[in-house]
Amino acid sequence: MAVKIGIIGAGGMADYHIPGFQAEGAEIVAIADVNEAAAKRVAAKYGVKTTYSKVADLLKSDVDAVSIITPNKFHAPLAIEALQAKKDVFCEKPPALNAAEMAAMAAAAAKAKKMLMFNFNNRARPESQAMMNYIRRGAVGEIQSAQALWIRRTGIPGFGGWFTNKELSGGGPVIDLLHMIDLALYFMGYPEPEWALGQTFDTFIKDKAFKGPWGIPDVAKGVNNVEAAAHGFIRFKDGQVLFLRNSWAEMNKREEVSVTFQGTKAGGMVRRLFGRDGLDDTSIDNCELYVQEYGRSVNREIITDADPTMGRLAAASNFVSTLNGKSKPLNTPDEAIKLMKIIDAVYASAKEGAPVKL
Ligand SMILES: NC(=O)c1ccc[n+]([C@@H]2O[C@H](COP(=O)([O-])OP(=O)(O)OC[C@H]3O[C@@H](n4cnc5c(N)ncnc54)[C@H](O)[C@@H]3O)[C@@H](O)[C@H]2O)c1
Repeated sequence: MAVKIGIIGAGGMADYHIPGFQAEGAEIVAIADVNEAAAKRVAAKYGVKTTYSKVADLLKSDVDAVSIITPNKFHAPLAIEALQAKKDVFCEKPPALNAAEMAAMAAAAAKAKKMLMFNFNNRARPESQAMMNYIRRGAVGEIQSAQALWIRRTGIPGFGGWFTNKELSGGGPVIDLLHMIDLALYFMGYPEPEWALGQTFDTFIKDKAFKGPWGIPDVAKGVNNVEAAAHGFIRFKDGQVLFLRNSWAEMNKREEVSVTFQGTKAGGMVRRLFGRDGLDDTSIDNCELYVQEYGRSVNREIITDADPTMGRLAAASNFVSTLNGKSKPLNTPDEAIKLMKIIDAVYASAKEGAPVKL
């Protein structure tokens, strides 16, 4: 029987969740949004018959699973409510506003014995999966150090809307563009973090010249109280290290989304260089391994299929195929707790002006 899915929050990612779920045979039966007009717009586009303005009504229905596409503040309460109603949950990133919320979500999933997965779509990219195959087969050895970057020059998503409002978003690019931190940790085997050192900058957060070319319209008298850029360094208990740079607005050449790593047998890189901030018509994707062979330095280019959705369809499909017992989940609640602890620690270190022990 087809898995019945309800969408909570008719956000932009519905355009990926819905076709991704359908590709694995799931049926999208309803959409709930506090703004029912938004739910109706998406429902009409995909031929979904039922909409709700109250999430509780969707949860009373016979849907098997929900996907959560709301501003970040609502991820934890909605996921917990859905898990308590015995629904499997696929939730947009970031998992929650902080590690404490994420731990409560993980506990609710364990208690309900239901699936809780997040849309870390960058793990589902062909480049990431190709690289992971080399890592799993031992070609890279142990990854000792990695660098995770998602850096933009003029990429603030909207002005004064929920993205730039800490109460609703949890923060700026550290928590919003957390994908490469997650991907580096995935490649490294999600080691136990021990120390974090972070610094954040808000220099350009109120400067409209640094706004991205997409995103939500400006909100007059809205709030802009998150960081515009962050730099951090994490040391793990077994000696591995991770350097991170995340920015919406910083004097960078172009938008870069990358993980580079140095292993005991090979180094490597998965990277997308965008043409302009947020526009990928001239983007360049790389998936490379660096080895020493027979006394020479050898660079291997791994050829992968192009995926303009950056793994978003494949990530949604993985949720359904996991529910159907055909795949393993691409991410777990335990990993999400570690990730949120690292993000909390980067913010705490920036606030305290000192390294923070995790
Ligand atoms: N994985 C990715 O590549 C990616 C890209 C963009 C956004 N996102 C994530 O998707 C989520 C949504 O972002 P967006 O830009 O689509 O937001 P959005 O503001 O465009 O849409 C969110 C929708 O949620 C509704 N909503 C708000 N509170 C609700 C509640 N309590 N219950 C039900 N509906 C509610 C709003 O009315 C709105 O229609 C965010 O967590 C964001 O980080 C992920």
